[in-house]
Amino acid sequence: MTFQIAKQETNSKPELYANLLVQLRSLLEGERDLIANAANLSSLLYLALPDLNWAGFYFYKDGELVLGPFQGQPACVRIAIGKGVCGTAAEQRQTILVDNVHDFPGHIACDSASNSEIVVPLIQNERLLGVLDLDSPTLARFDEQDAEGLNELARVFLDSTSLAGHK
Ligand code: SME
Repeated sequence: MTFQIAKQETNSKPELYANLLVQLRSLLEGERDLIANAANLSSLLYLALPDLNWAGFYFYKDGELVLGPFQGQPACVRIAIGKGVCGTAAEQRQTILVDNVHDFPGHIACDSASNSEIVVPLIQNERLLGVLDLDSPTLARFDEQDAEGLNELARVFLDSTSLAGHK
């Protein structure tokens, strides 16, 4: 099977995320493995969204966040709940948009190129599975439209993936 990520020609974020939803459904069709689906979603996001330097997952394991599939520079492996942008989003179970990571108290710098960040918590049946994290070298790269689009993609990912093996 070959899968070509369609080049995004639109400047409209709602249109861009609508296209990504179609691509994600096709990418995940017939496969429910957590690691495989997370790996393919991180690739889709990294290649299709402009201006990112990191896109990937942290999974909630034994009371902390542990690095999962991602695209970009190697990253810190473990993040305590409540620490950094990822741990804060996990603790609050809220999407967090950070216009300037250097102003975020406790921000964990993994790639010095990162200037803004968005973290979407992954919740299924009130259970925290982990977070989806995107970083950009551009200040204020992410807005409410990104938050909405990424939450929809995360929902499709969760609904298409077997979480049974995840503790
Ligand atoms: N900046 C994140 C850490 C993860 S990296 O960005 C990949 C944080 O503060 O939680």
